[in-house]
Amino acid sequence: MMLFLNEIRLRSFIPVNILKRCVSNVKHETVANETSHNPFSKEHMKAWVVPSFGNLDRLQLSCTVPVPVIRSHKDVIVKVKASSVNPIDVEMVGGYGNTLLSAWRQMNSYLCMDDSQSQNQLITGRDFVGEVIAKGSGVRPDINVGDLVYGMVQAHQQGCHSELVLTSDFFVRPVPNKIDLYEAAAIFYCGLTAWSALCITGDLLWTKKEGKKALIIGGSGGVGTIAIQLLKAWNMEVVTTCRSDAIPMLLQLGPDNIIDYTAPDAMKLIENSGKYDIILDAAGNITHYTYIPFLKDWANSKYVTLRSPLLKNTDKYGLVAGMIKNASELLRSNIVSGAPSRGSSVRWAFILPVETGINEIHKLFSENKIKPIINEVIPFMELPRAFEKVQAGHNRGKVVITMEDSAPKK
Ligand SMILES: NC(=O)c1ccc[n+]([C@@H]2O[C@H](COP(=O)([O-])OP(=O)(O)OC[C@H]3O[C@@H](n4cnc5c(N)ncnc54)[C@H](OP(=O)(O)O)[C@@H]3O)[C@@H](O)[C@H]2O)c1
Repeated sequence: MMLFLNEIRLRSFIPVNILKRCVSNVKHETVANETSHNPFSKEHMKAWVVPSFGNLDRLQLSCTVPVPVIRSHKDVIVKVKASSVNPIDVEMVGGYGNTLLSAWRQMNSYLCMDDSQSQNQLITGRDFVGEVIAKGSGVRPDINVGDLVYGMVQAHQQGCHSELVLTSDFFVRPVPNKIDLYEAAAIFYCGLTAWSALCITGDLLWTKKEGKKALIIGGSGGVGTIAIQLLKAWNMEVVTTCRSDAIPMLLQLGPDNIIDYTAPDAMKLIENSGKYDIILDAAGNITHYTYIPFLKDWANSKYVTLRSPLLKNTDKYGLVAGMIKNASELLRSNIVSGAPSRGSSVRWAFILPVETGINEIHKLFSENKIKPIINEVIPFMELPRAFEKVQAGHNRGKVVITMEDSAPKK
């Protein structure tokens, strides 16, 4: 966000043609300096691309995708060693979010004079681990060519299911010592999503966390497993729901109570374990109204869902009408759920680019207090199989893509 505001500030004071000339000179200087360190001598790279939206059979392996180039002083190019697959990757193959993301891309290319992301084919993949092979002149000094880093790319940018990925140093951190590379590949996106939902949307950043009680619906997925660990690291009481087969996996993460949501008396058990200061729906398919009575009354408690219709509505109705529809749906879900009449609220959460969150995820990950659960590691050449697995649902932790020819034995 800071980067974005700085760009706006720059543009409002300097005439565009002068700014464009200055920036292109800086770019050429930077590229010349950085590519001398670039061991990736080819002009093209392998990447899984989506030339047109549709089913998963649209995923194609291309060997002719142009390699990314440094365009801004904060850019970092990483040679990917491993990445993860998130539900949004699967949905983006079908065009999910394209209206809003295209508008974001266009605004970025206008403000930053960067057309590198406006390619006519989508590359999926949000989080990764790999080696820095080039960096802009203003990149933080803790990120250097040759370093192992982990990080993410925002949804409007080309993804990391490719040999190389371009991102900003804002979204990159050095891989901590003694950390498994596959875990580093799979933590950033789910970690920052869970942190944003709990701390920003759920207000935990500004209020005392210790001693509060949370319910995580969908503790067995990528976001849920991290949310449980974050809350325990903050000394909160955590109740979570999952199917019975996932209970042994979740026991390792230390929640205070795990409830099999398929059991006949599940709702009674959830109610008896409450009431909750915050309920996070990390399952993605919940009708939240049934959970609202489990929130603490008149305690500013929140039902936070990661499954909002925001992108679906902008895809269906366009940007402006979609946003109006979103505002009315959020209002409606609050009214129909009855949350405000109990002093609580229903909120929609999104992954947010907040530096405090990235730093906290990095710190807790470095201290081994949070880590993703790796379900399966699948070779890059078999990526469609990973997408099918995530699309099938019932995910347990994370599916990782390795650039090695074969996946490690379990
Ligand atoms: N808005 C954003 O910025 C953002 C960012 C990241 C993710 N998300 C969304 O957040 C949700 C979670 O993401 P994720 O990566 O963790 O997905 P995931 O890995 O697919 O996890 C979902 C988990 O929920 C479980 N589940 C399904 N129905 C359930 C129910 N009724 N009660 C309890 N558990 C249930 C699933 O297992 P079973 O079906 O076997 O129970 C699965 O383990 C997804 O909908 C995703 O699209 C949003």
